[in-house]
Amino acid sequence: MTGAGHPVRLAVIGAGLIGRRHAEHVANEPGTTLTAIVDPSPAGREEAQRLGAPWFASFAEMLAAGRPEGVVIATPNQLHVSGGLEAVAAGLPAIIEKPLADDLAGAARLVATAEKAGVPLLTGHHRRYNPMIARAKEIVESGRLGRILALHGHFWLMKPDTYFDVPWRREEGAGPILLNLIHDVDLFRYLCGEIVSVQALSSNAVRGHAVEETAAILLRFESGALGTVTVSDSIVAPWSWELTTGENPAYPQQDQGCYQIGGTHGALSIPQLEVWSNRETRGWWEPLQRERVPFVPDDPLKVQIRHFCDVIRNGAAPISSGREGLATLAVIDAVKRAIRTGEAVAPAIPAASAA
Ligand SMILES: NC(=O)c1ccc[n+]([C@@H]2O[C@H](COP(=O)([O-])OP(=O)(O)OC[C@H]3O[C@@H](n4cnc5c(N)ncnc54)[C@H](O)[C@@H]3O)[C@@H](O)[C@H]2O)c1
Repeated sequence: MTGAGHPVRLAVIGAGLIGRRHAEHVANEPGTTLTAIVDPSPAGREEAQRLGAPWFASFAEMLAAGRPEGVVIATPNQLHVSGGLEAVAAGLPAIIEKPLADDLAGAARLVATAEKAGVPLLTGHHRRYNPMIARAKEIVESGRLGRILALHGHFWLMKPDTYFDVPWRREEGAGPILLNLIHDVDLFRYLCGEIVSVQALSSNAVRGHAVEETAAILLRFESGALGTVTVSDSIVAPWSWELTTGENPAYPQQDQGCYQIGGTHGALSIPQLEVWSNRETRGWWEPLQRERVPFVPDDPLKVQIRHFCDVIRNGAAPISSGREGLATLAVIDAVKRAIRTGEAVAPAIPAASAA
């Protein structure tokens, strides 16, 4: 049944680390039903059994058995484009986990195909759905910080040595720039607008693997604002989204910050949501006041699923569309090119035609 009063029927493609969490939310949310898990692995089959959902080894087998109203694609990065194209060909709205694709050209082709077909595509940049970020966006857009001039972000944490026992994690492309910084960059774009130029340095000073451990990045926004962000998976520190927001209970939460956004009339710290401003006259001798802006926490993965239902049933505009995921990936691509060339690089989305 697809009537407005019935739960939205969703399938999860790829039931690994993150796919299992999506499947659980879809199975447990009152507004959704888990119609299928598609994952050829024995673990995928077990997960389907655990959640009492039909299991299929492939997308085609699932479709032959029945149509969901949408799919969540949480397969490895290299399968995002092919999986997304299958969903679009079947006319099924899809959330595709981040990064939208493992290469920019494939991502552009997928987005062009979905847009031409009129099939909604979402990129799984779930942090956008964190209620704290929704409030941060309201604060920035309300103008109470004045004109935004600078932004700073930290992604500093320690991935333990055992993390690197898996060979692909030691190779180029598997490091914190693609895996982690992409989340931060997506939020920076969401909060402060388009990024038009990037400069960057990277280092692998400690472990000596091909993959980067640390990077320092300069961003220029279309608005004229400037950003700095440093990322490292080799520093013991509390300053990262992961360790400060409490979003994922696997990380011990610290009462510290990970981003600061500064404007002519005030500054905002995230995730504390503290707005700093002068009471009357602006100036460095004037008293500085701090206001903590309240918000009601919720699990962004759940909010993302509810939003997906709103897109499917009510035609809501995606908060994190395929095109947004593509634009964020273009910034990551620019960071990598800036590291290689030592030059300032403008993020560029390649021209693409529908598949
Ligand atoms: N939003 C986030 O914070 C977040 C967090 C973790 C991972 N991710 C992303 O989610 C994706 C999956 O990551 P993961 O850590 O869960 O990986 P994973 O390796 O744990 O899981 C991938 C799953 O896909 C299955 N699979 C492989 N080929 C398939 C196919 N043809 N059809 C269906 N299923 C297939 C595998 O059997 C496996 O169960 C990646 O793109 C990753 O970047 C996002």
